[in-house]
Amino acid sequence: MNSAETLRVDLGARSYDIVIGSGLLPDTGTYVAPFARSAGVVIVTDAAVAKLHLPTVQASLDQAGIAHHCVVVPAGEASKSFATFESVVEQVLALGIERSTLIIALGGGVIGDLAGYVAASLLRGLDFVQIPTTLLSQVDSSVGGKTGINSRSGKNLVGAFHQPRLVLADTAVLDTLPKREILAGYAEVAKYGLIDDPEFFSWLEENASAVIAKDGEERKQAVMRSCAAKARIVSQDERENGKRALLNLGHTFGHSFEAELGYDGRLLHGEAVAMGMVIAHDVCAAMGMAPAQDTTRIVAHLQNVGLPVRAAEISGVHWDVDRLISHMSRDKKVRDGQITFVMTRGIGKAFTSREMDVGKMRSAISRSCQNR
Ligand code: GLY
Repeated sequence: MNSAETLRVDLGARSYDIVIGSGLLPDTGTYVAPFARSAGVVIVTDAAVAKLHLPTVQASLDQAGIAHHCVVVPAGEASKSFATFESVVEQVLALGIERSTLIIALGGGVIGDLAGYVAASLLRGLDFVQIPTTLLSQVDSSVGGKTGINSRSGKNLVGAFHQPRLVLADTAVLDTLPKREILAGYAEVAKYGLIDDPEFFSWLEENASAVIAKDGEERKQAVMRSCAAKARIVSQDERENGKRALLNLGHTFGHSFEAELGYDGRLLHGEAVAMGMVIAHDVCAAMGMAPAQDTTRIVAHLQNVGLPVRAAEISGVHWDVDRLISHMSRDKKVRDGQITFVMTRGIGKAFTSREMDVGKMRSAISRSCQNR
């Protein structure tokens, strides 16, 4: 087997390992064997990932003597729908599953969320394994047990916390991704530095180009440090009653841009998060709680790697600040009618608060949207 590193997500009886390494996919059967019983496994994947990676996973399960079936859905966010959920559930049930059937989510964030929710729902909960194939899903969505689908009223509004039994993050598969996808995932990597690890942010300033360019030691380090941060936060607050909300740094603003564009692909989630993290730092600097030079440093870094840092960079869109603010109030982060914001005192010093200066926030969003 390839050399791999293992991290633990500590959640009592629901604890699990995240295995990170290059070239793990051909050993899927070995890693999954402890969780696959005689009822076998059902792989849920999308058409694009199936073409690239399904034969490797199937061959490995064959080699390990694990019976398997596969359900393939169309690639893209539209598959996080009631219709696709129903279709997957019915296809899996038609296979004659048992309580001990294991679901494998093979794909990016859409597949992880969809297949995880299928696993959470079927027979009141099947075990599942995450095999994330995008940088974003390796460093964020595959860890922590958030699963779900979208509704007409918004993204991820229907779902469940359902922890996987294992996360298998093969950094070599990321070499099949377009650069734009890698960059979008990189925004979530940078997020961990900005939340509470300034030393990691400095490391990224030195090593980002290697992390983004290709599979190698730097990319593995970036995935490991991101997963370690996520595992630490999730272990302390599984159901987002407190600290886990820090993982939403830049997301309230980012989601409003995504919602305004109707998730139509003009803006990837990670790109929206990059723009949102800049606004979060900008507004906190304007409120006098964070040094303005930290915003400058973050903008420089995200720009250097090739991420959008201002909404005005998204061509052909005329943003309406009132509409963006109204999207924010429909977010899941609203409690008792108030939004919990992730604020900051500077790089690595994020905290949550409901005390937002709405005027300064409006100005920061306007600065992001204005052409210079
Ligand atoms: N992606 C944010 C979380 O998992 O809590």
